[in-house]
Amino acid sequence: MVEFRVGIAGLGVVGGGLLQILITNADRMARTGNQFTVAGVSARSRTQDRGVALDDVAWFDDPVALAKSDDIDIFVELIGGSDGSARAAVEAALTHNKHVVTANKALIAEHGSQLAKLAEDNNVCLLYEAAVAGGVPVIRALQGGAGACDVSEVVGILNGTCNYILSEMAVTGDSYENALEDAKRLGYAEADPSFDVGGVDAAHKLAILAKIAFDADIAFSSVSITGIEDIQAEDVLAADHLGYKIKLIGVAKANMKEQGSGLELRVHPALIPEDHAIAQASGPGNVVMIESDPLGTLALSGPGAGAGATAAAVAADLLSIARGMRGPVFNTPAEQLRDVKISAPEKQQCRFYARLRLQDVPGAIASVTDTLAKHDVSIDSLVQPSAMGAENGEADVVLTTHETTLAAVLSATTEIAQKPFSKMVPSVIRIEDL
Ligand SMILES: NC(=O)c1ccc[n+]([C@@H]2O[C@H](COP(=O)([O-])OP(=O)(O)OC[C@H]3O[C@@H](n4cnc5c(N)ncnc54)[C@H](OP(=O)(O)O)[C@@H]3O)[C@@H](O)[C@H]2O)c1
Repeated sequence: MVEFRVGIAGLGVVGGGLLQILITNADRMARTGNQFTVAGVSARSRTQDRGVALDDVAWFDDPVALAKSDDIDIFVELIGGSDGSARAAVEAALTHNKHVVTANKALIAEHGSQLAKLAEDNNVCLLYEAAVAGGVPVIRALQGGAGACDVSEVVGILNGTCNYILSEMAVTGDSYENALEDAKRLGYAEADPSFDVGGVDAAHKLAILAKIAFDADIAFSSVSITGIEDIQAEDVLAADHLGYKIKLIGVAKANMKEQGSGLELRVHPALIPEDHAIAQASGPGNVVMIESDPLGTLALSGPGAGAGATAAAVAADLLSIARGMRGPVFNTPAEQLRDVKISAPEKQQCRFYARLRLQDVPGAIASVTDTLAKHDVSIDSLVQPSAMGAENGEADVVLTTHETTLAAVLSATTEIAQKPFSKMVPSVIRIEDL
């Protein structure tokens, strides 16, 4: 039995889950032939009950001191945040030749290349499976299963809070605000859900996946981000009418159609054909699909958050260290990560959905179609779902376009919004024909 002394900074949702695995269920870990001893812990409140006895475990007020301690072999960072104590402690641990495991997507997305170089220079591991899709082993899939392949696309649902809200809106017909309150009540959304619903959380995860998939030094700021705050019940209903589900997706894609146009890196709501696996994922789960050559399509799904699932991913990283896993932090050594061109989202070609609210007056539809044509936007379908928005002589018109650019659609819909018969700023959503 080989012993590894583990220091854990952060004893909240994930840290508490890890204590359950390492202390309460120590026998399960010992089956692997390794013993993981919790040798030190750090959190803000020393007196808070963590669900397990920690009397014999060394306490550190300062996570950096724990990270540097000679009494630990592996430092586990479960504090969170891209900077502050989490970053300082991880840097200290790597500098002091400790292996590091973290669930911190913000830290890895924003400082991953620099931390990877530090880990590689000091010949220690920096593992972060739990940072993307919680308990779903998507990092392992990219580094292992698809590790020797050419990845062309990674697409998926990377935020369970948004997926729960959008699923609820589809099932109940409820408003975004009501579905969000429901998510908070059930513990799927935090009191301040802005990182989730604003798409930042999914973008952190996408940036990490893209770095591995494309051997690229991805700056987090290069991910284009649109959240779900503006999705209305009418959009969910209209999408359903057209045979689609609205999902918040992350897409990292090498554009095969237009050579030299760069990597697409985007998080946004999209209409997904209702029979696609991504459309069918309901509730708080995550789904990730990886397209690579010669492997083909790999689909992974499961719990993207929560104490047990996320701590299981952290524990799996501890086992990888115990098994002697070494190698680059991403798929390529940090110094060899490539600079890649990122494609401008407003110039990418795709189909769009738009919902307009129009005063029911003669000539309104003709004016809409003329304006779209003026901006080179060609209509694929135009319907008026019965009763939608039909109050005060107004009615909703829902259209889909042929392939065009966001820039063209927005210039057309901005002009339409200024017409006297137009009663709201049109909602415009990308259609992702997966
Ligand atoms: N929750 C999930 O389902 C989930 C899923 C995937 C990834 N993650 C990631 O896992 C990490 C932890 O998330 P969480 O949900 O477990 O967070 P959490 O419940 O808020 O726990 C954070 C912990 O960090 C401690 N802490 C805060 N500042 C500290 C400091 N300066 N020094 C020492 N300890 C400090 C807190 O101490 P006190 O308890 O004393 O306040 C708390 O124990 C984050 O990076 C998050 O993004 C979470």
